[in-house]
Parts: sequence; structure tokens; C-alpha cells
Amino acid sequence: MAQEVLSALAKGTEPWPNSWKLAQELGLKHDEVVGALKSLEAREYVALEQLRESRFELSAEAARYATEGTPDYRLFSALLARGGRAERAELEQELGAAFKSGLQSGAKRFFTVDKSCLQVLPGLELGEDSDAVLLAQLGRSAFFTGDFTELAAREEVKRLQRRKLFEVKTLNYYQPRRGARFAPTLAVQRADLTAEDLATEAWRDAAQFKSMNLAALGRETAAGGLHPLMKVRSAFRQILLEMGFEEMRTDRFVENSFWNFDALFQPQQHPARDAQDTFFLRTPAATEFVDEELKAYVAAVGEVHERGCANELGESTGWGYAWSGAEARKNVLRTHTTAISSRYLWQMAQELKRTGVFRPRKLFSIDRVYRNEALDATHLAEFHQVEGLIVGRKLGLPHLKSFIRQFYAKIGITQVRFKPAYNPYTEPSMEIFCFHPTLQRNVEIGNSGVFRPEMLAPMGWPADVSVIAWGLSLERPAMIQLGCANIRELSGHRVPVKNVREAPVVTL
Ligand code: PHE
Repeated sequence: MAQEVLSALAKGTEPWPNSWKLAQELGLKHDEVVGALKSLEAREYVALEQLRESRFELSAEAARYATEGTPDYRLFSALLARGGRAERAELEQELGAAFKSGLQSGAKRFFTVDKSCLQVLPGLELGEDSDAVLLAQLGRSAFFTGDFTELAAREEVKRLQRRKLFEVKTLNYYQPRRGARFAPTLAVQRADLTAEDLATEAWRDAAQFKSMNLAALGRETAAGGLHPLMKVRSAFRQILLEMGFEEMRTDRFVENSFWNFDALFQPQQHPARDAQDTFFLRTPAATEFVDEELKAYVAAVGEVHERGCANELGESTGWGYAWSGAEARKNVLRTHTTAISSRYLWQMAQELKRTGVFRPRKLFSIDRVYRNEALDATHLAEFHQVEGLIVGRKLGLPHLKSFIRQFYAKIGITQVRFKPAYNPYTEPSMEIFCFHPTLQRNVEIGNSGVFRPEMLAPMGWPADVSVIAWGLSLERPAMIQLGCANIRELSGHRVPVKNVREAPVVTL
């Protein structure tokens, strides 16, 4: 293409045609000719001067006015035909849709309007529809007809432009002139210098070689990025591992109601077990319990729900309702990772029964949970919980508060507040709040408590073993750390890929 354009120029005499004319002469697209000229310019075969040319482009509406007449003029002439004054309703009936726009643009110019009548301005006669004539003229405008500047300066044209009846289209084009290295044929330039070129001294003829662009940016390297939320997750995980916690396996997003609710002494009528709050599975809708030990435990849990239990700590009356095994078998998307904690606690109680050796433990997990919630700036239907528990002796609120304070201090949140709360499975229970600097208010970042004997006793834990536990938000502290006010910037399908790509793998 560059050679074709170069030959066409070399054949003619200067001044050479501009890029637009050249495109017409060669039967090429203007863009292609401009591309070829620019590459010739880069090699100094030609020098280019950039020029601009404009033309008018009528809107569809204006094109119609140019042939059918403008609505204001049509209204004006209809008025004159009625002796200069007429009822709105009458005119509207005659002109239809044109009446309204004619009224807008013709008022004060051709006629005055009062409540029900239009009245032609004194002294006006029916001349030609000058706007329609002008629009027709603008409609004929093309690049290089030479009338743009004169027309654009006219008051009437400016008035039509304010009414958005046309747009101005601008073309950038180029005037080529002979360049410093002009020649009628394009020399083939080589990109590489060989040993032979050095030996034969061919390198001394610089024109043979492509020049190097030393300012070119290198190709962007695709390095691994980490989703900002996952980065915060790995930081949290690291902190908990350093604090001596073991990680629980959480690869179990579908859970049955038994582990998610019943094992946690959550009564079957509890509103959290409603379809409004929990996603129930259609297939498979229910879990069958087959393991004998497990079946015995399920029965024991049912018993505690119905009638309670007793140990050295005291006596519980239970919830006093007829517990249903079928309800417990229903599958759900886990609503909290406390379901995982209840599984681990039961396993650990089994181990204690088998071995007779009590092992205090500190466990954690960070994974997704699901709730059927209305979404807003701080709520999602799918989010992460930082779950944890400590199994030991004589553990209570002081240990719980101290752990929570320590943990948050490690991620830079030092102003933590506790609020008494209620969970069916913990007593006492506390919600955890901290101040969100971007949202400028306290936000709940977690919930916690001391597991109730009604939960631990049927698992087989002796009364002197106590368990403190918590479920903390991952997203909210992450929002605080990353300074984002809307959770959707951090999680879900609207997270900008750029944020991920630009998040270096190593930080904090
Ligand atoms: N499961 C609770 C929640 O989802 C958190 C929690 C865990 C509370 C353990 C107390 C004990 O909010």
C-alpha cells in the first residue's frame, strides 16, 4: 500500500493531491491512504501537514423539513390562510404532529400565542420558508465544497444548530510534500544487522536498515494477580496459623439441616430455618444418616430439643416440641461454617470417648456461606466466614474477648466493641462491631459466644469441657483494609478485573 501511494505521488507533479483526493483517485479508503502516508512520513519519504475539513449532516427530522417545509412555517402559513388568527384546536387538527413543534419554534418569530388562539405578528407576510431552503442547502453539503465556513458563520445556521437539526462532521486529512529521503521506490529496509553486514561494512549505509525505536515500551508481562479478597483471606489464614490454630476442612457447601441447625440446638421453628433466609436444595433434597454412631447422636440431639438434658452444670428443659427427623435431613446451602465446627466437635468428642484422652484444640476455617438475603452495600447472598473455636477447660467470655481483640489488632482494627446478643447455641453471646472509616459508622463484623451445654452434652462432652467460638466476616474487614464502601467492588461478578490484575501477589 505504501509503495502504491508513493508511486502515485511520484508520477504526479507537485503540489501533490491531498489524502482525500488521493483516495478518490486510487479508489482506496481514506483511512488506508492515511495509514500509507503515515508510514511514508515515518521513513521521511514524505512530510505531512494535517488539515481539517467539515460538512453538515442533517438529522432525519431536518431532512424531512427540507423537503416538506418546517413546522413553524407551515403553522404560520396555515394561520395566514385563516386571516392571521385562529384557534389552537383547529390548527392542531390540520397540522397533526407538526403543530406542537411548530408552536415551539414559531412562537415570537411568526406569531403570538395566548390561551386558545394564535395571532400572526403584525406586518408579517408569507415569504418563502427560508429555514427549509437553508436546510436543503446544508443537506447538500459535502467535504471540499468550500461553503462550510461561510455557512457556519451565518446567524440562521447557528439558530438551526441550537435546535440540533444538524451535526458538523469533521474530517482530518493530510497534505503530503516531498520528504528529506524522498525516492520514487521504497527501499526494503532490513531489521537485523548480520555479521556479514559488519564485515562488508554494509552497516555504514544507514538507509538500508530500519531504525530502532529505543523509546518503545516493552511488552506487558502477564504476572499472576490475586483477587483482593483472597489476599485478605490468606493474610487472615496466616495470622490464625501463627496464633496456633489448625485449619478445618470446609469443602462441603451443601450441608444438611442437622449439622447446620439441629446439632447447634437451633429449634426447628426458628425463623432462620425459613426459605426466606436459607437456600434449601431441591435435589438431593435430603440426607440419609447411615452410620450407627451418627444415628445415635442424631437421636440424642432430637431428645435434647424435645426434653432437654442434665449434667453437673444443671438441668435444661429443652425446647419442648416434637422434634422431626425429616426436618433435620433437609439439605441446605450452609448458612454458616458453624456447621463445620459442630461436625468437628462431634468427631473430637468421639475421639475422647475412644481414647479417654482430652486434647484441647484451637480450630479455624475461612470459607463461603450462603444466605437468602436482600443485597445491598454491605450484604451479599454469598460471603465468607472466618470461623473459629477453642476447646478447653474453664473457658469463658474473658478468653473470648481477649482472643477477638488480639486477632483484630493483628489486622489493624483496634476499636472493637461488643454487644450482648442471642444465638440458640451460645450463652452468653456477643456481636462484634468496629468502626468503618469510609461508611462512617459502626458495622457488625462478627458474632461469638460460649457453646451451650445443650449442644455439647449430646455429643458426649463432659461438663468440664468448655468451647468458645466465633464467626467473623471476611468481607467487612477487607472493605475497611482496602478502603471500599461497597461490598460488590470486592466480591461477585462486578469486581473490576483490573483490581485483580493489579493486585501484586505479595503485600501486607
Ligand atoms: N454462626 C454465627 C453466625 O453465622 C457465628 C457464631 C459462631 C456465633 C460461633 C457464635 C459462635 O453469625
